[in-house]
Amino acid sequence: MGKHNFVTIADLSKEKILYMIKLAQEFEKHPNREILKGKVVATLFFEPSTRTRLSFETAANRLGARVIGFSDAKVTSATKGETLKDTILMVSNYADAIVMRHYIEGAAQYASEVAPIPIINAGDGAHQHPSQCMLDLYSIYKTQGTLENLNICLVGDLKYGRTVHSLIMAMRHFNPTFHFIAPKELAMPNEYKIYCKEHNIKYVEHTAFNEKIINEADILYMTRVQKERFSDLMEYEKVKNVYILKNDMLNNARDNMKILHPLPRVNEIEYEVDTNPHAYYIQQAQNGLYAREAIICDVLGLSMDEITNDPTIIK
Ligand code: CP
Repeated sequence: MGKHNFVTIADLSKEKILYMIKLAQEFEKHPNREILKGKVVATLFFEPSTRTRLSFETAANRLGARVIGFSDAKVTSATKGETLKDTILMVSNYADAIVMRHYIEGAAQYASEVAPIPIINAGDGAHQHPSQCMLDLYSIYKTQGTLENLNICLVGDLKYGRTVHSLIMAMRHFNPTFHFIAPKELAMPNEYKIYCKEHNIKYVEHTAFNEKIINEADILYMTRVQKERFSDLMEYEKVKNVYILKNDMLNNARDNMKILHPLPRVNEIEYEVDTNPHAYYIQQAQNGLYAREAIICDVLGLSMDEITNDPTIIK
């Protein structure tokens, strides 16, 4: 059997997505096991991260694996000119799987082509963030009881926000209606609108963010304006506070409506919203642990049977 990567959510069938959700449920029931004892997981972060790196490392640790890696490429031989290819080949000598975040779009795909071990994409530039997408799907499934026929508002930086790009692709199997809410400077790129048309995904574009839209939503997916992707910071200053979600905008939201955000947040959700029953972004990040336990086990070739009948479960 060929090696198994987790590079883009576009590769996952409907059955595979639902299977991964079942695996995440199993890990939520029993997050602590020794099923990966003897394995080494490498986390290579060429861009900053809090949740993705720490939840992957926690996932590996809770499954009994050991973790090597770096959170800052400045302390590696990349600063001496070592290429990404050579870095990946070296780490492949030491680890059983690589979790990598890189600022170049397509870097994870490239790494998967040169590495003899599985590559997990932890975000590549403004392109994809498939592990975030798995935890988003798990969060949607947990809160809505289904992934089918949902009204999903994507709000904020739809140009550079890789999590929304991945979510569109994953939801193609589930008949969603998307509302893309962004200022024109941060509108959803054409390639994703073309993707929607090719896959019969319904979408409506808006520039106004108001109660009327919120009241129709099942999922309100807020995003940060991605300062680090702007070449001109004056442009960032113009849009940085374009939409700010406040409690008084949520008075007539549907009962089932949940607010998601991949985090980190800057100004786009007021702190007062954190205790609103619609807020779900902190639990969403917790779901990242279970989704990432599922992803690591899956790329390492562990089956559902091996996981559900795991004798090493720590209760
Ligand atoms: N959601 C997310 O990717 O967060 P981090 O950048 O902190 O990993």
